Amino acid sequence: MALHLIDHPLVAHYLTRLRDRDTTPDEFREASDKIITLLLYEATRTLRTRTFEIATPIESTAGTAIADRVVAVPILRAGLGLMGPVLDLLPQVTVGYIGLERDERTAVASRYYVKLPPDIQGKTVLLLDPMLATGGSATKAVEILKEHSPASVRLICVVAAPEGIMALQQAHPDVEIFAAARDRQLNAQKYIMPGLGDYGDRLFGT
Ligand code: PRP
Ligand code: URA
Repeated sequence: MALHLIDHPLVAHYLTRLRDRDTTPDEFREASDKIITLLLYEATRTLRTRTFEIATPIESTAGTAIADRVVAVPILRAGLGLMGPVLDLLPQVTVGYIGLERDERTAVASRYYVKLPPDIQGKTVLLLDPMLATGGSATKAVEILKEHSPASVRLICVVAAPEGIMALQQAHPDVEIFAAARDRQLNAQKYIMPGLGDYGDRLFGT
């Protein structure tokens, strides 16, 4: 499995806005949209394209279009907050949803909702979940996706813990991870340190 840590001054800037406990939900959502746009830029770098002839107002030239069909799958609830930039940027994207919730005591993720487009087979799936902590949620989500035979799965997350990276790597070595940061470790409550707290709560003001 490849881990892509996106080393870029703008990513570092918006990650700091997300980490700061004084960032308000409005500011958090704005920084989240911006950092996800930057991560998407990297996560879509290897999508295949096709070329075709177009006419500019001046003359004919070769044009480019995205040839791969992409399915975006946010893990509810926090992953939903990453959808704005995905819908803005990706042509002809279809969307599925996987609802998982971590038990606050055990941190074990259980599914409460799954709704996927019928045409995942052979497509590129962008799995969206901002926090890779124990890796339980991402591992379960990939398991669910693989029942539908996608061509590949790429996980876009903001912060990844070493524990989660290792767990996902062991369970699904073929999944590529695109993250803004690999943090130090999990605390006793399975929150990422230094992390940014509960992404869903901060995004939605709960
Ligand atoms: C958070 C986060 C991830 C999960 C990561 O979700 O959005 O889905 O924890 O943790 P893991 O790697 O240990 O599984 P949470 O269960 O808090 O639900 P929410 O998105 O509804 O807040
Ligand atoms: N989920 C979050 O939102 N934050 C963490 O630190 C761990 C899991």
